[in-house]
Amino acid sequence: MPHDVTLIATFALGFALAFVFGYFANRLRLPPLVGYLLAGVVIGTFTPDFVASSAIAGQLAEIGVILLMFGVGLHFSVDDLMAVRRIVFPGAFAQIVIATAIGTGMAMLWGWSLGGGLVLGLCLSVASTVVLLKALEERNAVATLNGRIAVGWLIVEDLAMVLVLVLLPALAGMLGGNVPGGGHGAPEHGLLLTLAITLAKVAAFGAIVLLVGPRVLPWILRQVARTGSRELFTLAILSLSVGIAFGAAELFGVSFALGAFFAGVVLNESDLSHKAATNSLPLQDAFAVLFFVSVGMLFDPSIVIREPLMLAAVLLLILVGKSLIALAVVLLLGYPLSTALMVSAALAQIGEFSFILAGLGIGYGLLPPEGLSLILAGAILSITFNKFAFLGADWLNGWVQAGPERKRICEDSRGAKLGLLHAELDAAHERAEAKAAARKTLSPDELVQRFPVFAQLTPEQREVVILHFLPQSAQPGERIIRMGDKADAAYFISSGEVEVSVSGRRIHLGPGNFFGEMALISGQPRSAHVTALDYCSLLKLTTRDFKEIMDRYPEIREQVRELAAQRGEMNRQPSAEPAPGDSRTG
Ligand code: CMP
Repeated sequence: MPHDVTLIATFALGFALAFVFGYFANRLRLPPLVGYLLAGVVIGTFTPDFVASSAIAGQLAEIGVILLMFGVGLHFSVDDLMAVRRIVFPGAFAQIVIATAIGTGMAMLWGWSLGGGLVLGLCLSVASTVVLLKALEERNAVATLNGRIAVGWLIVEDLAMVLVLVLLPALAGMLGGNVPGGGHGAPEHGLLLTLAITLAKVAAFGAIVLLVGPRVLPWILRQVARTGSRELFTLAILSLSVGIAFGAAELFGVSFALGAFFAGVVLNESDLSHKAATNSLPLQDAFAVLFFVSVGMLFDPSIVIREPLMLAAVLLLILVGKSLIALAVVLLLGYPLSTALMVSAALAQIGEFSFILAGLGIGYGLLPPEGLSLILAGAILSITFNKFAFLGADWLNGWVQAGPERKRICEDSRGAKLGLLHAELDAAHERAEAKAAARKTLSPDELVQRFPVFAQLTPEQREVVILHFLPQSAQPGERIIRMGDKADAAYFISSGEVEVSVSGRRIHLGPGNFFGEMALISGQPRSAHVTALDYCSLLKLTTRDFKEIMDRYPEIREQVRELAAQRGEMNRQPSAEPAPGDSRTG
């Protein structure tokens, strides 16, 4: 080949096979991602010379994880998580501890070291948020209470794993791994210091992102959205998500995944988060596919023949063990069986964090190489069979609901705690809606209803116009514009009434009207006084934004100019005849 086309080949082969296998998986009523994993296995097994590109595939997969975690962050709400905290924090914590202990014990029975066992146990104890979200989306259950509990549970697991990823390098020496530049068993104070430094870095990163982010990131997005260019907006989303993830990893030693997650969290507070989610979705989809393909590529199918018993044990822990632990924990916490079953089904798989953790474990010489193969095999099989976990949960749930006595014991008598979560979640949503309403100026439809002058714009153009408005209020008697002043803005009246006084006339303008345009057009000082008559809510356009909108949308410019000309004409007349569109009540 004339030049290196490994990247193109990886894309072409990865996408094409993922497409074919995904399609057939779908025909077989399996989730398409089973097809993507298999596509990866096929590429890895039958094209050994293609292995050179697995490094590239690995990096593409990393981009997939970044975008996926960014998406999780975009939809993540601290309020929602806090509303279900009573179940997800103790639940996830207990489940991780028990599952990790069982996994560690199992591996030590195989003769692995404590460190190796611990890494394996941790890898098996968490489930993939990405896989769960896809499963919930398919069942239309993302927004249900049980769905939110399951997602919250896995988010807590993700957060715990992030902590593990951060702490593992510091603890590797003590656990018998090889630490670059250090021997086994780092001295106690050295270890504590490393831990402290690592945690301080994470805290510093979190603080910077959560304090500075909400001020800066939505502002940047707003500026970009105002250009009206979808391309630039997508580019902004991409550079913010991948950029923050990369910066977090480089500067703070925080994982890509966590960095991207935080970037998403910060943006989800902004009123543009919906647009951001829509624009980044196709990219997320594409790179998520590559993530699953590259996981398949790393898989060594011979593990099935070499270590069938180990694999069976791993699968048993993922599919049955973890589910039973979660079931018991949720029931012990006093929640209904339907909630317990949903969490159990959600947990019966492993995914992205397990691979990342396993990779790190191998890097530190803690996890033996077959550990990675076992984890990958466990992931591929458990993700494939996850659908059946949900079907089983549904069946059991249906059976319980069908018997009045069973229903009373498993559901109704345990409804009180769930009701409490319901109420908290509802309250959280109300708060979120109130916050969004306070931030929002207008919807595109409202814009046209209130200001007919914008009727000719397309919905996208209306959205861009709305982004230029700055909400402002005025009290009765407040002088909004003083005659003879230099102009700096035009105003659209959303509600309330103002009085224009010029050359002995008093003209009242109400909702849907605008004022302050004449001086902006003519470059002259203000032609009249404008005073609020009652509480007014106004939408202000600064000079720059006014000019920008007039330049961009000639049809609006013509209407505004015409009205300004009529008003000017009227002001020059000695007798008072109101201009069209204006009301005279004074
Ligand atoms: P401007 O001159 O920038 O500031 C005062 C505003 O009052 C002016 O723009 C118009 O928007 C408004 N105005 C002036 N004359 C009239 C009029 N005759 N009828 C309605 N509005 C007017």
